[in-house]
Amino acid sequence: MSLATVDRPKTTHKLHYDQEIIRTAIIAELDATNLYQAQLDNLNSEEAKKVIEHIIDEEREHISELYCLLMKLDKEQMDKMEEVNASTCIAGGFQE
Ligand SMILES: [Fe+2]
Repeated sequence: MSLATVDRPKTTHKLHYDQEIIRTAIIAELDATNLYQAQLDNLNSEEAKKVIEHIIDEEREHISELYCLLMKLDKEQMDKMEEVNASTCIAGGFQE
């Protein structure tokens, strides 16, 4: 993934600036994952499929690393993550 084409963050607040960059990087990684998944679905070569599957796995790792970093930089996002984990993931699913 390259951030070279990503727009410059709009905020001038230093912490918000970093948060915005990380959120943009997460979006790019998710887009890359979708692109590779679509390619995988259309590939015929088993060798090519293995390479793309490996890349998709790496992109998922990048997403997780970036999201972990965002949790450290954005306390409100961390609070929401804890709230969601407690009420949904751990309980075994979303509840209304
Ligand atoms: Fe990546």
